Amino acid sequence: MPRTIIVSNRLPVKVTKTDEGFNLSPSEGGLATGLGSVYKQGRDKWIGWPGIVIPQQAEQENITDQLEEMSLVPVFLDQEEINQYYEGFSNEVLWPVFHYYVSTFAAYKQSQWEYYRDVNEKFKDIVLQHLEPGDVIWIHDYQLLLLPGLIRAELPDVSIGFFLHIPFPSHELFRMIPWRYELLEGMLGADLIGFHTFDDVRHFAGAVSRILPVNVSANVINIGVRSVVAESFPMGIDVKKYASLPLKKEVKENIQSIKDTFKDSKIILSIDRLDYSKGILQRLLAFEELLKTHPEYCEKVTMNMIVVPSRDNVPQYAHLRDEIDKKVGSINAVYRKMDWTPIHYYYRSLPIEMLSALYSTADVCLVTPLRDGMNLVSKEYVASRLNDDGVLILSELAGASKELIDALIVNPNNALEVCEAIIYALNMPLEEQQDRMRSMRQLIAKFNINHWVKIFMDRLKEVKQMQRSMQTRHVSAATEQSIIKRYHKTKKRIIFLDYDGTLVGFKSNMLQAKPDAELMDIIDKLSEDPANELVLISGRKHENLDEWFGNRNIYLIAEHGAWFKQQNTGWHKISGLSDNWKHDISPVLETYVDRTPGSFIEEKTYSLVWHYRNTQKGLGELRASELMNNLKYLASDKGLQLLPGDMVLEIKNVEVNKGKAALMLVERDDYDFIIALGDDYTDEDVFKSLPDNAVTIKVGSNVSAAKFYLRNPAEVRQLLLGFVEEAVVH
Ligand code: UDP
Ligand code: G6P
Repeated sequence: MPRTIIVSNRLPVKVTKTDEGFNLSPSEGGLATGLGSVYKQGRDKWIGWPGIVIPQQAEQENITDQLEEMSLVPVFLDQEEINQYYEGFSNEVLWPVFHYYVSTFAAYKQSQWEYYRDVNEKFKDIVLQHLEPGDVIWIHDYQLLLLPGLIRAELPDVSIGFFLHIPFPSHELFRMIPWRYELLEGMLGADLIGFHTFDDVRHFAGAVSRILPVNVSANVINIGVRSVVAESFPMGIDVKKYASLPLKKEVKENIQSIKDTFKDSKIILSIDRLDYSKGILQRLLAFEELLKTHPEYCEKVTMNMIVVPSRDNVPQYAHLRDEIDKKVGSINAVYRKMDWTPIHYYYRSLPIEMLSALYSTADVCLVTPLRDGMNLVSKEYVASRLNDDGVLILSELAGASKELIDALIVNPNNALEVCEAIIYALNMPLEEQQDRMRSMRQLIAKFNINHWVKIFMDRLKEVKQMQRSMQTRHVSAATEQSIIKRYHKTKKRIIFLDYDGTLVGFKSNMLQAKPDAELMDIIDKLSEDPANELVLISGRKHENLDEWFGNRNIYLIAEHGAWFKQQNTGWHKISGLSDNWKHDISPVLETYVDRTPGSFIEEKTYSLVWHYRNTQKGLGELRASELMNNLKYLASDKGLQLLPGDMVLEIKNVEVNKGKAALMLVERDDYDFIIALGDDYTDEDVFKSLPDNAVTIKVGSNVSAAKFYLRNPAEVRQLLLGFVEEAVVH
């Protein structure tokens, strides 16, 4: 079993200083509580900040020793680092932006960014000090977005997983951060990037594809030959622990004392860290609305509200605390009776035995964040309901709402809706409570914390294997030499070269992708050798190939095989094909051009191409898949093939195909060296049709039937130069 090195800003244990010395207690927050119960397995280690500034070296050593017994490694931060990296960049910039609070709170300060970078470096150094060969590194959350990239730069092959515990915002918000490139590049140092929900994955992939010059296909991001996968893994909790707690003596006593205190009053429970993203004020307004508009509930319902102190040196948090104090004070002052207080408010962290008792005794748990990556409190409530009763009211803006669909789902900004949900919950028949609670309990029992860790780690292993198999197929210096050697030993060769994306890079205007002098030189030298049959096999129009290569000594295949031209002859097209179908397809394509600014139609003899390279990012892809759907039946009726390519959708006769064209040429003679290079979907037909001894090379990193990979046209040219330049040596 490889060791996992967990890295997060905060350790699951926090150190506080008392008169007697240092005290260790569990940290708050979903990351620490969720992972806290599983990290102790095996020889795993957890690296992070112990939650306190310790200037003295001797005290740091003392704490390090105490933590070591628990497999924890402290990263000590000084006061300025706390101010600038933790409170500043992490919690005044990243937290608000990622929770959609941009205009109000985010301020971009260069010094905070520099500290953020430096502290991420500091974490890197400590991770490297503790790393052993074979270890898997698992980095958590927004405080350490640069860390995967920093470690990757030092250790190109190490396995790195990254998990973001908060939402990833739409790229419209993310791109406002001045250091967006660096942040994304940092995250992409990981091999697998996990989020709580699929929406977060979409937002992340959208941001990467718009901000960085990398190829993103669905949830796979290709950086050279390294593929990074982004996926959703909704975090679970330690269900067994929460289900067994209410059976403990201490918890039972707490339960009894809560029951004695509240007697017949129904209890609404509210538990959060102090945070504006949790919607605590909005929740209080909804409760106030209930007392105001439905006075019959006064004295019959009590809210137990626990707010766990958090980040109170950040101004917005300190301000929020004042606001909550005021609101609770005013509600209690207006509605209190001699023997009834509407809100029992605790501003402190509670031991788990008390939390469990609160979960067990709450008739309703009100979880209404304005944004939350997941929210584990909602799951802990469900896990604690051993009798399957109780009602969970859950915000649609919490990640947990995507799983706990049997909760009463509300919009947390709508006080009236929340108030009505409370009334509905207070009056819900037991049977309905149990139906809803049972299905939620089944779900969280299956998707528990161990399951979460397992599926993340299994997927990381798979991604790593996929990367390794890609790497072994990448043409290394040794493979290149062996292909070149084989080339020189052979006497009758056929060389198939695709053009766009293979010999030249893509240009937004197709006609700009003209062959340059270096390329012409390579082509001329290759074609000069009488042992070579050089074939340029492209999807471009024959007129276009003719203009660029018509006078060269090469075999030209245009429009995927519809047209061909042998050296020193004219162009011919394959016979028996019809283009009557264009009358039916053209009008459909026209409507897409009208609806999609920047797109256009290219007409070839036996195909029509809808180009969307210059359309708004995302819109083109959406329309292309709509168009595919639209044409599906019409195309098969008319014997046409729909070919999705790089920012194009081509509709062509089924009979025309690069594979058939290549095979026809190969079968004409007895070649002892066959090689084909191509970058897109249509070249796959060539790779598949050639005999087993052919050398097939995919350019780029998408899945391919080719035997080898090259990264880009520059590497292709280098290989071809190897054929022509080393002729003398071999
Ligand atoms: N929690 C705690 N002490 C308390 C109250 C709550 O440790 O006094 C825990 C709670 O059990 C839960 C976590 O804090 O596991 C909060 O996680 P959640 O995902 O709901 O929100 P986050 O704080 O991570 O934003
Ligand atoms: C959330 C974040 C965690 C963080 C926790 C507590 O759960 O996702 O990364 O540790 O809140 O916040 P704190 O700032 O006290 O670590």
